[in-house]
Amino acid sequence: MVSRDLLLMVYFCLLFIIIPRGHLLQLGVKRETEDYYIVFLSSHMASTHMGILSALKGSELDAKESHVYSYTRSFNAFAAKLSESEARELSGMDGVQSVILNQYRKLHTTRSWDFIGLPQKATRKKHESDIIIGVMDTGITPQSESFNDDGFGPPPAKWKGSCHHFANFSGCNNKLIGAKYFKLDGNPDPNDILSPVDTDGHGTHTSSTAAGSQVHNAQLYGLAKGTARGAVPSARVAMYKVCWASSGCSDMDLLAGFDAAIHDGVDIISISIGGLTGAYTSDTISIGSFHAMNKAGILTVVSAGNDGPSLGSVVNHAPWLLTVAASGIDRGFQSKVVLGNGKTISGIGINGFDPKQKLYPLISGEDVAINSRSQESAGFCLENTLDPSKVKGKLVQCKLGTWGSDSVIKGLGGIGTIIESDVFLDTAQIFMAPATMVNSTIGETINKYIHSTRSPSAEIYKSEQVKVSAPFIATFSSRGPNPGTKHVLKPDIAAPGVDILASYTPLHTLTGLKGDTQYSKFTIMSGTSMACPHVAGTAAYVKSFHPNWSPAAIKSAIMTSARPMHDQDAELAYGVGQLNPRGAVSPGLIYDMDSMSYVQFLCHEGYNGSSMASLIGSKSKIDCASLLPPLVSEDAINYPTMQLTLKNNKGITTGVFRRSVTNVGHDKSTYNAIIKAPKGVNITVEPMTLSFLQTSQRRSFKVIVSAKLNGSTKTVVSGSLIWRSCSNVVRSPIVILNPQYY
Ligand SMILES: *[C@@H]1O[C@H](CO)[C@@H](O)[C@H](O)[C@H]1NC(C)=O
Ligand SMILES: *[C@@H]1O[C@H](CO)[C@@H](O)[C@H](O)[C@H]1NC(C)=O
Ligand SMILES: *[C@@H]1O[C@H](CO)[C@@H](O)[C@H](O)[C@H]1NC(C)=O
Ligand SMILES: *[C@@H]1O[C@H](CO)[C@@H](O)[C@H](O)[C@H]1NC(C)=O
Ligand SMILES: *[C@@H]1O[C@H](CO)[C@@H](O)[C@H](O)[C@H]1NC(C)=O
Repeated sequence: MVSRDLLLMVYFCLLFIIIPRGHLLQLGVKRETEDYYIVFLSSHMASTHMGILSALKGSELDAKESHVYSYTRSFNAFAAKLSESEARELSGMDGVQSVILNQYRKLHTTRSWDFIGLPQKATRKKHESDIIIGVMDTGITPQSESFNDDGFGPPPAKWKGSCHHFANFSGCNNKLIGAKYFKLDGNPDPNDILSPVDTDGHGTHTSSTAAGSQVHNAQLYGLAKGTARGAVPSARVAMYKVCWASSGCSDMDLLAGFDAAIHDGVDIISISIGGLTGAYTSDTISIGSFHAMNKAGILTVVSAGNDGPSLGSVVNHAPWLLTVAASGIDRGFQSKVVLGNGKTISGIGINGFDPKQKLYPLISGEDVAINSRSQESAGFCLENTLDPSKVKGKLVQCKLGTWGSDSVIKGLGGIGTIIESDVFLDTAQIFMAPATMVNSTIGETINKYIHSTRSPSAEIYKSEQVKVSAPFIATFSSRGPNPGTKHVLKPDIAAPGVDILASYTPLHTLTGLKGDTQYSKFTIMSGTSMACPHVAGTAAYVKSFHPNWSPAAIKSAIMTSARPMHDQDAELAYGVGQLNPRGAVSPGLIYDMDSMSYVQFLCHEGYNGSSMASLIGSKSKIDCASLLPPLVSEDAINYPTMQLTLKNNKGITTGVFRRSVTNVGHDKSTYNAIIKAPKGVNITVEPMTLSFLQTSQRRSFKVIVSAKLNGSTKTVVSGSLIWRSCSNVVRSPIVILNPQYY
């Protein structure tokens, strides 16, 4: 839920600030502060990880103490505790490719699949049961009905992973075929269990959204009732627990998760975890996913972040990742509120409580402050600001300050809470006591009523499901422009991420708030975290039809088949638009790429051979000079979208985009270009017709975009190129950014 996701976010940020950095005092000599680092080595490096550390630390004993983990399967790298100067010394050593400081990241039904057009009865391939989705998250709930293996055969032969009995974890079956946990810093987490078990609920939710088996009669308080299922109910799930209740998700653990998932033989990786901004050569999700693609043809799908609607807030934006924004579906959850004067209003949120009597006295938080100094905070119903004797037995109106005013009011013996807010109104927060959320106009009405009568009263009713107009992009969903490169549009695509019902853990209450006693097998959450597994599941669905497609081919198929959307931030909010799972199975044409194409792109972006060593990990250094194509394109990449950034606001900016498409549809087919250009932009395509005689044929074309926005203050204007045949529509947005206005 945004709420929980955001709450966690705040929580992890706080923790990040207060986590003490280990420092040692020895014999009165103050040693430099140490931190965890990940050290990437070139693959021909003869010395062992311990050898390198011993030489650096001066003794084998110190080396042993410093060494945390060796990544030996897909990466030649190790994690160790080092001082800053040791890290610097290492990075200058021959054979050391890069040294990265370990950092901590935050975490970011059933109707949703029908809404985007993947009904229960959709055509499926027998091969679906050979597909394995690897999920990196907070762990998993093995006994959840979503991971029931009725009717499943043994795991596919390629599977090399494992699963055992762990603390509070009963083991795997033929649906959940792998479960591992990574906690390399070795610190026990007082709020978690050293086991792949999910004590949070996030990982159970995302995994069941991607690949959950069918569960009939799934619901939360009778809401969102239906058959819960993933995109690929027959596919297998492997959980790599890399996120922990107190510390979040550390880079060392994420990289170890990638190392294991690549070795184990997963087909698709799904990661609903925050990203860090930085170079693609020093970000572990970007490095890990590049190796997954390069070594094993695995596509990694990631969440775009919950930091919207600010522009430039998108994370996880490497070009080989499939970055997912969150859209809303046509279902909302509302509570009726009746005031003592008979007026009825409606609030948002999931309130599972039926009122026990007819009206309760209603007050405003700011009127019952514990003392005059607390009056302002009391308006937000913060802890220790309200007079308990005046709250007891009443409904309280509060402004949204932090999450959990429902818990504060309940703790003081209050009956319920009406929360006033102008943000987070497009998602339903779950309450731990009677509560609902209203906008400021309605809040004002309530406030006026409270102060217009001697004994104001009200009633909050149990939430009901309502139809809302959709799709829309959630306000919280992170927006472009891409902070990593001006040549690639991010996010790539939007998928349902608002009020999604999926499986949950019995080890966490629904809200995690103090005093909450609500547990449920299913719960409703919102966030790009929920959108990501919709796309990961769809990628698995596409792969079950086309087992040999490259990660870029699967990604292109999903992108060019998406449905157009609308939002004031246009493509910066939704990329190509709304996910269309069944369309992705037969895209007609694909924009394909291999790993070297991305390297070529990075060369064009100014990365050099030595800085790319952590991605490639190969013996021979990349020589960018020899890699750049003779015919330079605006972006040097065969991406399914095009983005041109204006040089200035007055003159004409022109970009030439060179692309090639591969026929994956009918043998003989002809595609015609359909161009949509916004005002002030000219787009031409050469040639305008592409003819194919057989499948797998590749055809090249170029798109010339010239734009002059004539003083427009719009951040983004957009057009598109559609290749249309009698059976296919292959759509690529063309986005023109005005850098002056973001
Ligand atoms: C985990 O298992 C131990 C041992 O059976 C038990 O004492 C503990 O309560 C369990 N923890 C949770 C959170 O269920
Ligand atoms: C609050 O909601 C009401 C009813 O839906 C609507 O008329 C009003 O414009 C909204 N106010 C704000 C500030 O969004
Ligand atoms: C390669 O790029 C890195 C990071 O930008 C830089 O520090 C280094 O000097 C560059 N090396 C060469 C040979 O240009
Ligand atoms: C677009 O084409 C028209 C007609 O050729 C031309 O007058 C105009 O300057 C062009 N605009 C841009 C931005 O290139
Ligand atoms: C550009 O702006 C000028 C002045 O605002 C206006 O007169 C002209 O019509 C505009 N041209 C286009 C093509 O919109």
